[in-house]
Amino acid sequence: MIVVIDFGSQFNQLIARRVREHNVYCQVEPSDISISRIKALNPKGIILSGGPSSIYEKDSPSIDKSLFDLGVPVLGICYGMHYMVHVLGGTIQQARKKEYGFAMLQIKADSPLFKDMPSTFQCWMSHGDSAGILPSGFEITASTKNTDIAAVAHHGKQFYGLQFHPEVEHSVNGALMIKHFLFDVCGCEKNWTMASFSDGAIAQIKEAVGDKKVIMGLSGGVDSSVAATLIHKAIGKNLYCIFVDNGLLRHNEKAQLEKRLVANLDMNIQFVDASQIFLDALKGVTDPESKRKIIGNLFIQVFDAEAKKIPGAAFLGQGTLYPDIIESKSAFGGPTSIIKSHHNVGGLPEKMKLKLIEPLQLLFKDEVRKLGKTLGLPEDLIWRQPFPGPGLAIRIMGDITPRRLDILKQTDTILLEEIRNAGFYRKLWQSFAVLLPIKSVGVMGDKRTFANCVAIRAVTSNDAMTADWARLPHELLGKISNRIINEVDDINRVVYDITSKPPGTIEWE
Ligand code: XMP
Repeated sequence: MIVVIDFGSQFNQLIARRVREHNVYCQVEPSDISISRIKALNPKGIILSGGPSSIYEKDSPSIDKSLFDLGVPVLGICYGMHYMVHVLGGTIQQARKKEYGFAMLQIKADSPLFKDMPSTFQCWMSHGDSAGILPSGFEITASTKNTDIAAVAHHGKQFYGLQFHPEVEHSVNGALMIKHFLFDVCGCEKNWTMASFSDGAIAQIKEAVGDKKVIMGLSGGVDSSVAATLIHKAIGKNLYCIFVDNGLLRHNEKAQLEKRLVANLDMNIQFVDASQIFLDALKGVTDPESKRKIIGNLFIQVFDAEAKKIPGAAFLGQGTLYPDIIESKSAFGGPTSIIKSHHNVGGLPEKMKLKLIEPLQLLFKDEVRKLGKTLGLPEDLIWRQPFPGPGLAIRIMGDITPRRLDILKQTDTILLEEIRNAGFYRKLWQSFAVLLPIKSVGVMGDKRTFANCVAIRAVTSNDAMTADWARLPHELLGKISNRIINEVDDINRVVYDITSKPPGTIEWE
């Protein structure tokens, strides 16, 4: 395995992704990790991430410098390189000119990282400092126009530094440099596959849970379904899943989940129809935050009541993913991000005094999808777009009534059908309809109408932190609009949302 030391870079997850793409396991650890813990992890190599700090700043992140005595190869990226140069006796200075964006890299000396690469190619820079005097034993292996020391190497000790960011796609050959570091420098083996992960995880769950019972909330989404499937493989009927139907799901959602998980996997799932309770509580509520609070609290109440019917449950299964865990341990992660990682089900674990089982906590989203495939889950479940916990409630602007819910469900079904038929479903992060709280005038047949307006939202994104509105073909948008107006009563206008995030959010409430 490879350990990535997090010095606060916005790209540290990307570094981990790049390593895992080569089937090498890798873990991101905070910079205050102890050397004994690193030794216990027994890494084949260490990557020091970049970070926003300047090395001479007070409180800039650091790591015990005996790291460099472990006899393990080290790759320092940007701040990581500055840190290595600094603690090994070199100097760091303010760059002649801040460098942000593309630069042409000129290879100056042999380095295993640059094996089989041309002598000049594009890299991506983002730095205000650069190395000045190098520690003894180091040499410059590449430069750019603005930065003489764009890459360094101490071949004897296998220490390498890159001023640019190889993990970012704009750095041509960046992924290849990481590959060379993993295999040519560190001698890693390609043994991180979803099949090996799955076998290990099942064994670990068996050992941790023994013959006790695990309860778990299913949302119908990818993460909870994959986590439940893994736990089910480990402990079978001792897994008790609870699916709360809050009445705010998309059309057919419950039936599909029933088919996918109960029929396919023979899983123990209790379906609780709580839709009336939720709809009653939401009557007349128009404020988005109030809607969320009501739904969140009711979910806990309903889940808790159902879980009490399962005597002797000792564990709560959750589909927490690695990005949440990394965030909670990040060099700059405060208490709030720690809370976030363990509150996916709104504070349930504390309330219920259960231990957590989070079998996906080392995986990224795309790895979860691969795992789902390895576990034999159907493609339509694996590729399901994310759906928010409060469901359609935050896609009905204003008052939620059974009639308005029905209008939105019909609209949403048509939209998804057309998006799927046009081959866009997997390409989009999310696509959905929003029912607006306004009516507008139209003509249908020879009659004047005064009816509802829906907005279509379709976005591309990697992580929902930022998103762009999807450039869907006009023909497709035309077809969607036409079908919605013709097939859904009480809608006479369809608009397309062309707002990115930021400044907008993906959802409307
Ligand atoms: P926004 O609207 O903040 O959404 O850009 C980012 C992503 O989060 C989803 N979302 C939620 N998911 N509970 C959830 O489980 C929520 O309350 C919630 N609000 C937003 C949203 O669908 C998008 O993928």
